[in-house]
Amino acid sequence: MPYLLSTQHPYLYRMAENLNITTSTDKSEQYQSLIPQIAALLSGEPDLVANLANICAALREQFKWFWVGFYLVKGDELVLGPFQGTVACTRIAKGRGVCGAAWQQGKTLLVPDVDAFPGHIACSSLSRSEIVVPVFDKGLVAAVLDVDSETLNQFDETDADYLEQIVKLVNFI
Ligand code: SME
Repeated sequence: MPYLLSTQHPYLYRMAENLNITTSTDKSEQYQSLIPQIAALLSGEPDLVANLANICAALREQFKWFWVGFYLVKGDELVLGPFQGTVACTRIAKGRGVCGAAWQQGKTLLVPDVDAFPGHIACSSLSRSEIVVPVFDKGLVAAVLDVDSETLNQFDETDADYLEQIVKLVNFI
């Protein structure tokens, strides 16, 4: 057997970090294919940033949404965390915008038309609809998952249900 550097030894790799993207056009099937893969990516990895980053990447790869990212509760503000998409606003006060409102209300907010949401914060003028899902740690909102689309009316209760399942996989430790 040829000599292997320790970092090349096959047993040191936990799994191949690649995603099986389903070609199904059914949204529930897409989530059902993705969720166990996200669970596998997160399993055994305690690092919060690494896990949030992989959730964003997995969601964006499957759904090709315009922007997917987390804002983390830090004091009385949300601060931009791992995301995929264009550069974004870094700080959002509690109650401000869709993200701050989802934090304050502790519930998922579906925004079919961002222009119709009072106080919506336009990080990008291309965003037309949005969903924000709170992420809880020990009963308190510790982060929000924000997803933006260039299409009006992109998100519905199906997205809310599955995205809520996905954020429950996050372990804050
Ligand atoms: N639209 C959000 C701000 C965050 S960006 O969309 C990435 C809001 O109103 O809270």
